[in-house]
Amino acid sequence: MSTTFTIDTSTSRANPTPAPMRRLTVPKLRARKADGVTREPIVMLTAYTARQAQLLDQHCDLLLVGDSLGQVIYGLPSSVPVTLEMMANHGAAVVRGSYHAVVAVDMPFGSYEQSPAQAFESASYLLKQTGCAAVKLEGGAAMAETVAFLVQRGIPVIGHVGLTPQAVNVLGGYGPRGRSEAEAEKIVGDATALDAAGAFAIVIEGVVEPLAIALTKAVACPTIGIGASAQCDGQVLVTEDMLGMFERVPRFVKRYEDIAATISAAAEKYAAEVRARAFPGADQTYQPE
Ligand code: KIV
Repeated sequence: MSTTFTIDTSTSRANPTPAPMRRLTVPKLRARKADGVTREPIVMLTAYTARQAQLLDQHCDLLLVGDSLGQVIYGLPSSVPVTLEMMANHGAAVVRGSYHAVVAVDMPFGSYEQSPAQAFESASYLLKQTGCAAVKLEGGAAMAETVAFLVQRGIPVIGHVGLTPQAVNVLGGYGPRGRSEAEAEKIVGDATALDAAGAFAIVIEGVVEPLAIALTKAVACPTIGIGASAQCDGQVLVTEDMLGMFERVPRFVKRYEDIAATISAAAEKYAAEVRARAFPGADQTYQPE
């Protein structure tokens, strides 16, 4: 991975845009998998804000502005109520905060399913408003025509199969998929249809491991697993999950930090100092010259 640069973290809060440099590109990422082999797995994390993007950018190949921001940022019960405007605002912030990774923005529920033309209108809006390089949409064979329509018109697409959270009302929950033979067969059909339609990568979410391995072998483009398998061509997690922001996380999440405890402890200290009139101290107050 090209991490041979250091990020400028001294930029002011008002203008956190780092110095520009050449980003990774979609064709370069797609080319990571050749003849069924991916020597360098694709590293992907979600990002929703400029500062978060600044911190993640140098470590990631792909930053996903996921519609999981509905739950993570807005406290919504699912990703279903997320709007195109929310995605555009957060997408623009993430593009401003990054200069290395490819930024992909999720197309929210209701913005693409109706027709390829509706999808093009929504996706082109996201590209124009944010500067992102790609979009991601959920659904398999039923979305293949739409994926081909977008790709042929200059919009790179990441597919998303298996557990597709926007379909929670049809699926009846967020449990793993592909345990029955019929379901596994359908998911293989979904992934191969997206691959043939020109998706440059496919997120495989919440499927049993043998199916994730079979899917990775079945498609030419890279697969990016979440709750899938280490044998996928890359991995993605929701950043707040892996940072330990939430008490309850799915089984497939590994917590690399306990950021909730760190935040809570800092807020507790701050509250105690305010109540004791110990903050602000001499270092934090201005005096006449
Ligand atoms: O919305 C999201 O964050 C996602 C990832 C979990 C793949 O789709």
